[in-house]
Amino acid sequence: MKFSFNHITLVPGGRYILQLSTIAMIWVVVSCGNETTPQNITFAEHIAPIIYKNCTSCHREGEAGPFSLLSFEDVSSRSKLIKFVTETRFMPPWPADPAYTHFIDEKVLTEQEIALIGKWVDEGCNAGDMSKMPSVPSFPAGSQLGKPDLIIKFRDVFKIPGDGKDRFMLMRIPYELESDKYIKTIEVVPDNRKLLHHVNAQLLSYDPDKRKDVIKGEVAVDVKDFPTTLEAYKALDLPNDDGTFPMMTQSVTNYLPGVTPPIYPNGIGGFKMAKKGAIFLKDIHYGPSRIDTSDQTSFNVFFADGAPKRPTMEFQMGTYGVSPVVPPLVIPPDTIMKFTSDYKVPFDISILTVNPHMHLLGKTFLAYATTIQGDTIPLIRINKWDFRWQYFYTYKKMLKIPAGSIIHVEAVFDNTRKNPNNPFSPPKLVEEREGSMRTSDEMLQFIITYLPYKTGDENISLETKK
Ligand code: HEC
Repeated sequence: MKFSFNHITLVPGGRYILQLSTIAMIWVVVSCGNETTPQNITFAEHIAPIIYKNCTSCHREGEAGPFSLLSFEDVSSRSKLIKFVTETRFMPPWPADPAYTHFIDEKVLTEQEIALIGKWVDEGCNAGDMSKMPSVPSFPAGSQLGKPDLIIKFRDVFKIPGDGKDRFMLMRIPYELESDKYIKTIEVVPDNRKLLHHVNAQLLSYDPDKRKDVIKGEVAVDVKDFPTTLEAYKALDLPNDDGTFPMMTQSVTNYLPGVTPPIYPNGIGGFKMAKKGAIFLKDIHYGPSRIDTSDQTSFNVFFADGAPKRPTMEFQMGTYGVSPVVPPLVIPPDTIMKFTSDYKVPFDISILTVNPHMHLLGKTFLAYATTIQGDTIPLIRINKWDFRWQYFYTYKKMLKIPAGSIIHVEAVFDNTRKNPNNPFSPPKLVEEREGSMRTSDEMLQFIITYLPYKTGDENISLETKK
């Protein structure tokens, strides 16, 4: 495998986190000791249930959170910081504004929960009657969905040097099966949960006559080593033997820390997996590490009984999409600029999932639909863009958008030095560059997973995972 180690240092959110951590160190000194003041908010009865439900999925051994939040000690020793990060809604990370639209598996604390944590901290962190503690949540190591029919693993261990840099990779995980299969879902099982930050996976289906050996070739390349996507795809040995490209199924799975695997109920979704193919990670991000380490993530594949009844479809607005970015995405240095994209929906659709996508200069994001009658259907609002938390947001119920409606996207980019994530200091002109996926170039995309509308879709709950 070829990897180059001279990376641009991109530490999204780095400065902010650093500041918070410094405050944390001071706070540890003044945080709760053993002194108990009489009060009735207790860890055992009130705080532990909130922490277990909203924090422990990421804050436990080996996960993405920097420390565990399981025991009374874990929480009380960081109580002031926890009060701060919950009051500012920095934690749990959930950029979508819950005052605008709701999604399944929403990671949002209620005002009451935030107030309860604050009061508990102010009152001195009472442990309470430990026999009343809720049971510690269990997180199955292999799969959250059951026994997979097939497990596909990285062919080689991916080595991550301890150079303190983020890595944005493209990876190809080839496989061969006995026959074509229909798939219900694919679940990402990270090996290095500390560093694997996000994955968005596509599926490549090869025609066995066009590609003799799918296994051979390069399996991982670094996005920053290639000026264009096309060159990166070639270096990754994606093409057929004759240089043409295989068929690609978009967004077959995705992963972020603490997120449960994507699966739609009621026979919705699913796709075909060719006998010869590859899972193609178009977007895989490893966070920085100070020690040499590695990752060998695997993919649990769940077969379906037959062809999908209602396979989901996808379109994207903005960069490379069905509707252009207006004005063209060019952001001069020292400016804060707004861009839009409008798309007229050609037939009735039912939206399942949306994914707003920008890079480091993103500041805010808004999307809504306007019907012919002039009604507004809110889709998603992000008041403080966070490059690190690009969720695929699934609605609780499908959202009908009638034919003729306009989906309107509005995004603001901050290319000033006040943006702590600005990859350039001093700021430089940043733009969308043809075929580039570099994080220091910009993108504005809104990816929509949908079905052609059927009567009653708006009543189907997407919450049950099967
Ligand atoms: C989806 C995963 C996830 C969830 C859920 C989550 N955290 Fe975090 N938390 C992180 C990560 C990752 C970091 C490291 C900072 C970063 O990457 O933004 C972090 C950092 C922190 C920090 C340290 C902040 C600093 O800069 O020093 C605190 C405190 C914290 N989380 C508390 C919580 C609490 C309390 C909850 C629940 C109410 C929670 N977190 C839920 C992933 C999560």
